[in-house]
Amino acid sequence: MSTVLDFIAKKNSQQKITMLTCYDYMSASLLAKTEIDCLLVGDSLAMVVYGLPNTIGATVEMMVQHTQAVARGAPNKFIVTDLPFLSYRKLLSESVTVAQKIMQAGACAVKLEGAAGNLELISHLTQSGIPVMGHLGLTPQLFHALGGYVIQGKTKTAQQKLVTESQALAAAGAFAIILECIPSTLAKMISKKLTIPTIGIGAGKYTDGQVLVLHDLLGMNPDFKPKFVKTFLSSSKLIEQSVAEFIFAVQRGEFPSHEHSY
Ligand code: KIV
Repeated sequence: MSTVLDFIAKKNSQQKITMLTCYDYMSASLLAKTEIDCLLVGDSLAMVVYGLPNTIGATVEMMVQHTQAVARGAPNKFIVTDLPFLSYRKLLSESVTVAQKIMQAGACAVKLEGAAGNLELISHLTQSGIPVMGHLGLTPQLFHALGGYVIQGKTKTAQQKLVTESQALAAAGAFAIILECIPSTLAKMISKKLTIPTIGIGAGKYTDGQVLVLHDLLGMNPDFKPKFVKTFLSSSKLIEQSVAEFIFAVQRGEFPSHEHSY
């Protein structure tokens, strides 16, 4: 299993870090057989698994259950789990309890969005043995405040803010930072300035690693095709085709055949 030290080592030796979301046991079992460095039990599961309109509906209970399932399927992988909306924005002790539940569910690290208001918690968690991954740029939990899923870091002021925030996260003890939907030149600059790795999504090729939502990579939702997603498989077509073949086989009395019957 990779460790936080391996991620830093990869950055130092200019080897890219790879990360994918994973929400369930079966996907985790499949990913466990691959060379992927890191699995993310992202709060995007609220949308992908539960069909909610954004990540605001993700709860601690959901994150705990899905972390347990992923940890069972991929005990050999470094698992990062999102702290869900507002669960880390109350009292320090309450936030620590949330992180404790998630770590005890099988996560190796937690991820949280934004810098302002989180630095004390990050120091506290890292000093308590909980590695923390930061997340800057388009932070989906701030969907309403950001005015939707829009590219961040477009103005000079916004760029300077992101540089300062990334340095503050690193200083507080974060072991890596996700950079989401920011210009690639800005992601490059931040990645160069930091000694901890950056992992990009919609942030160009110069980050120290890349993360994608597994379902996007597999092309499971043909209606969702943002610029930063590359589908490596057209699985929605294959699924529709397989289901059509099943229906046809059943209707024609070809399935189940002798070989599939007791
Ligand atoms: O929840 C998630 O899937 C994420 C990734 C988009 C980085 O945070």
